[in-house]
Amino acid sequence: MKLLVFGSLNIDDVYLVDHLVKEGETIDSRSYTRCEGGKGLNQAIALAKAGAEVYFAGAVGEDGAFLPAFLSSFGVRTEYIKTVDEPTGRAIIQVDDAGRNSIILYGGANRRISPETVDDVLCGFGEGDCILLQNEISSLDYLICAAHEKGMTIFLNPSPITEGLKRGPLGFVDWFILNEVEGYGLTGHTDEDGIIMELLRNYPSCRVLLTLGEKGSVYADAARRARRSAFPVDASDTTAAGDTFTGYFVNAILNSEEVDRALLIAAQAAAIAVSRFGAGRSIPYADEVERALTA
Ligand code: RIB
Repeated sequence: MKLLVFGSLNIDDVYLVDHLVKEGETIDSRSYTRCEGGKGLNQAIALAKAGAEVYFAGAVGEDGAFLPAFLSSFGVRTEYIKTVDEPTGRAIIQVDDAGRNSIILYGGANRRISPETVDDVLCGFGEGDCILLQNEISSLDYLICAAHEKGMTIFLNPSPITEGLKRGPLGFVDWFILNEVEGYGLTGHTDEDGIIMELLRNYPSCRVLLTLGEKGSVYADAARRARRSAFPVDASDTTAAGDTFTGYFVNAILNSEEVDRALLIAAQAAAIAVSRFGAGRSIPYADEVERALTA
């Protein structure tokens, strides 16, 4: 079984601020840092640090050559990343005193993924392989259909939510991994029960992993639910907490861990990531997660 993350690579411009900027307001920042990011990159790093062998497909501009190198340094296979004539994707991220964030994206090279690119990459994958997707690249609908056609298992983190995504071929998705904001975007419900019931009603054979921040996480399928509380943490930066959770959860499931154990490992990994600054860099290795679990 091969595992492919087909997703975004971003340059994250991160500003530490007293509070997230309001409409009409200009504020000063305490610091500025340029970091490696993108939901695709972060989730691939989480998978690799958790111990998975991961292939990554995506696109960067000339200015983003350090991003594939960064992925490679964690053992991620980067031969499916192309360099295009477009600036690399960007994220402007504010992080406040409580570790909360807000993010503005510029797609850049991530929006240069075409159906032809998808076909070229998926040539190397087939029945029984797995693909992890987010919504920060172009041609996502085509990619979902092509992966389904190949018989791949599809994990989707539907972030960010867009009108196009809602109209997409979501019936082919095997696993939805999402938070309450994304759950609301997809279903119109704000409560856990409403989000889960609506997803299972629309896509009866899917599995749902709903993350609830400090309230923990819930797994649901047509037959059962499992719940996990979050580990208490002094938050420094919540950026990539969801990506860490996603990568660790997917790795555990692909290693045939029980859902309860997968939720536990993912919750611990996310708690460690939240206690550190940055996106990809904040993600812990499996031995750190294991040590924290046994402490
Ligand atoms: O999930 C966090 C990520 O979202 C950041 O790294 C940023 O690049 C955006 O994609």
